[in-house]
Order: sequence, then C-alpha cells, then structure tokens
Amino acid sequence: MKIFNLSMECYPVAKVGGLADVVGALPKYLNQIESIESCVVMPCYNKPFVHEHSFEIVFDGWIHQSNQMFQVQVMKERSQSLGFDLYLVKIPALLDRDNPYGYWDESQQFLAFQHGVLHWLSAMKIRPDVLHCHDYHTGLVPFMIEYCPEFSFLKGVKTIGTIHNGEYQGQMKWEMAKFFPWFRGENSGLLDWNGFINPLAAMIKCCHAFNAVSDGYMQELFDNFRGLESLVRQEGGKAYGIINGIDTEVWDPATDAFLDFNFNKKNALAGKWKNKKALCEEYQLNPDLPLFSFIGRFAGEKGADLLPDIVEQSIQQTQGSLNIIILGSGDKNIENRLRDLNFTYSNLALDLGYKEFLSHKIYASSDFLLMPSRVEPCGLNQMYAMRYGTVPVVRYIGGLRDTVEDITTGGSGLNFANATADETVNAMHRALQIYHAPGLMDLLVQSNMNYNFSWEQSAQKYLELYRK
Ligand code: ADP
Ligand code: GLC
Repeated sequence: MKIFNLSMECYPVAKVGGLADVVGALPKYLNQIESIESCVVMPCYNKPFVHEHSFEIVFDGWIHQSNQMFQVQVMKERSQSLGFDLYLVKIPALLDRDNPYGYWDESQQFLAFQHGVLHWLSAMKIRPDVLHCHDYHTGLVPFMIEYCPEFSFLKGVKTIGTIHNGEYQGQMKWEMAKFFPWFRGENSGLLDWNGFINPLAAMIKCCHAFNAVSDGYMQELFDNFRGLESLVRQEGGKAYGIINGIDTEVWDPATDAFLDFNFNKKNALAGKWKNKKALCEEYQLNPDLPLFSFIGRFAGEKGADLLPDIVEQSIQQTQGSLNIIILGSGDKNIENRLRDLNFTYSNLALDLGYKEFLSHKIYASSDFLLMPSRVEPCGLNQMYAMRYGTVPVVRYIGGLRDTVEDITTGGSGLNFANATADETVNAMHRALQIYHAPGLMDLLVQSNMNYNFSWEQSAQKYLELYRK
C-alpha cells in the first residue's frame, strides 16, 4: 500500500509546531510495517536541510494559476536517512520561502503546492493508494482529484484528512477561485461554507475519511469547531480520533545529543538534577527551587496570554519559592509583558525564540511543565515531558485529557478544569505539595518515564483506517 503524506511541515526539514513532529515520525513507523510504503511530499523551502542534503530532480513541469505560469520541480532526497522517501516541491516565487506560513499570499501558495503535487502525480502516472492530507493547507486535494478534470488520472484515489488544528480553516474569498485548477461551477458548493471557500470544510466533505489527532478533540469538534459543527455532525460517519505518538528515537533522554547529561530510568533522578543545575546556572536561577516550564507558541489556543498573570501570581503567592522558565514566541503583547516581568522577577527565565535544542534541555531539566491550553487537539509537549521524567500540569481538554490523568486517580500529572491564571496557579500549589512530599516526586519521575507513547500503537490505527 502506497501512502503519500502531503504537509506543509515535516521534522527535521521545516518545523513550526507539532504537525512537523507528526509528519516526520508517522511515515517512519508505518514503513516498519511490511506492505506499507509511506512517503512525505512538502514544499521546498529555503531551509538549511535543503542546502545540506542532496536531491535528484524527478519531475520538471509547469502549472497555470489564473493568467500566470509557474515552474514545478519535484526533488527526491537521496540518502533516505529519514526512514521515508522525501519529495520536495519547488515552485519559485511561491514555495521557495524561509518559512511555511505568514505570507500575504499564502492561500495562493498552498493552492500552488496542491496543484503542483497533483500535476506531478498525474503527469508521471503515479497513483498512490492513499493521499493523506494534513490540515487545511492540503485540504483541497480530495476535491481537486474528484472534480478538476486535469487530474482525472487520480480520480478515485482514496483520501484521508487529518485535522491537527481545527482553529485554522484557510477560509478565503470566492475571488480566489481563479487560482484553482479548472472545475465545473456546479461543483462549487463542495468548496463553500457560509459564502467563502473553506478548505477544511471542503476536506471534510470530499475525503473518504478524516480524523482528529485525539479522541477527546474529535468529540469536542462536534460542539465547538469554529462554525463547522453541523458539517462534522453530518459527516460524522467517516470521523475518527487517533491520538498522536512521539518519536521515541528523537526524544530519548538516554541518547539525546542536545542534553548536557544523558539519563535513563535507572539514573533519572541524578541525571535530571545535573541537567537542571546546568540550565539554572545558565539562566541564573537557584536550582534548589522547583522548576516549572512552558514551551510553545504564544497564541490564545495555548493560553499563553495567561502566562504573565501566572508568573506574577505564583511567584508572589509563594514568596519566590519556585522558578519558571518560558521558551516561546508569537503574540508581541505577550512577549512584551513577559519581558517586563523578566526585569522584575529573578525567578523567571525567558527565552523569546524558537530553539529546538533548548526545548529538549527544558523538558529534561524541569520538575513540572505547564500547559494552560484553551484548545489542544493533541499536544506533544506533555508526552515529551513525561518521557523525560517531568510532571505535566495541564488543562483537562482535547488530547491533554486523553494523555494526562491526575495523580489523585493514579495518573501522571495534574489536571485543572478551566484555562484561567487562577486555576493554573492553584494547580501549581498542588504541584508544590507533591514536590515537597518526601519521596513522591521521585516516584512520579520514575513512573512517568514508564509511559509508552511511541507511534507503534497509533501507526496501527492509521493502518486500519487506510485498509478500511
Ligand atoms: P502545536 O503544534 O500546537 O504548537 P504541539 O504540542 O503539538 O503544539 O507541538 C509543539 C512542538 O513545537 C513541540 O515539539 C515543542 O517542543 C515545539 N516547540 C514549540 N515552541 C517551541 C520553541 N519556542 N522552541 C523550540 N521548540 C518549540
Ligand atoms: C496542532 C495542535 C497540537 C497537535 C499538533 C500535532 O498543531 O495544535 O495540539 O499536537 O497539531 O498533531
């Protein structure tokens, strides 16, 4: 069975968030199953990975968008060191950018990618068994292969849409239809939602099956999906929830090259302490205090706007008997407020950037990881934290409620019900009790490292879905 994953991100080629981690791991695990060949197709960005690896050009052609023509080249990575075939789609002026997102013409950019991929597959007579589309950026593919005559060779190919984040739907005005490959007007209703072209809605309508990245989030979407609730209910017969796994080779404290000190279950306490000491020294924090951390995009979904209040309240209420380290970037207001607090409180360490190596160090060094998310389709941070012996303190929502049970019921972390600073800080007080209870923290570190979030189980679930 040949599976083509279409995505805007893939670790280690280009990563903005968890989508990259998933697309960089799932195909690798699927390829370990006999009879499956899973590859990744993504845009060719201006990224170090592209310059540092060698590629073979496997296709060279042209696509039309409105009255413009764009060259499309498809390049296959030669070394195959990722555990799957990687194809990069090069479209000068639209895809050869520094980052996947954030450009004024990104709707056209995503359309060009989808058009380019389908043009390549049709022209080269490559017919995958499944086109696996990740998020709305590739959500028009199921429509295009059924209703754009240019891709009639692909008609009938099975399509699966994975919703990593239903907050983003890619809605665009109907004027943008001029950038689409040609389709009959009578089919335009499949693209429409409330008078706009909505790629995520089109994906749900036209794919053979779709899934959210956790069961918990799938259930939430029926009631809360930014306007698509009725659609998802109507199409509920082909909806699934499949929890993400983590790449336990990339995320292994015993071998992780980003860590100052590697450790395993047997020497976890000593290992975590050495890492914590080194990190605290670097950020001028007292290592004898419990260390809470936050890693993530500064966006409303992540509850990042609550961080300034969480920092102030928790440090004040405990008279400075805890430390907090924050790694992230995004909303400028949040960044500025945190910058101010960083001058006021020596218990706060702040790194406003995207630093893969530092995230690994923080998971390994922290005692607790904070996730006050408003929306969390799956969340990978809590699983990385547990693998590194850290206790997650999470809002009970989406994938977080599927992966972190409260310790009062025998689980691995702390839950709270609402995304507010007060509730987060209350949970931090509970965390401090655990921290100071003789022996309890050590037990939790050990038992959290025993959880198995590896992709093996979830890859099987995708396999079942592909077979269906
Ligand atoms: P999302 O995809 O919604 O951002 P996830 O929890 O699925 O959330 O995945 C986030 C991924 O991005 C994790 O691998 C996390 O470690 C990483 N990450 C987020 N922010 C940063 C940052 N500032 N520096 C390094 N890694 C980050
Ligand atoms: C999205 C979600 C996150 C999820 C990730 C990978 O970015 O916000 O919760 O873990 O995709 O599926």
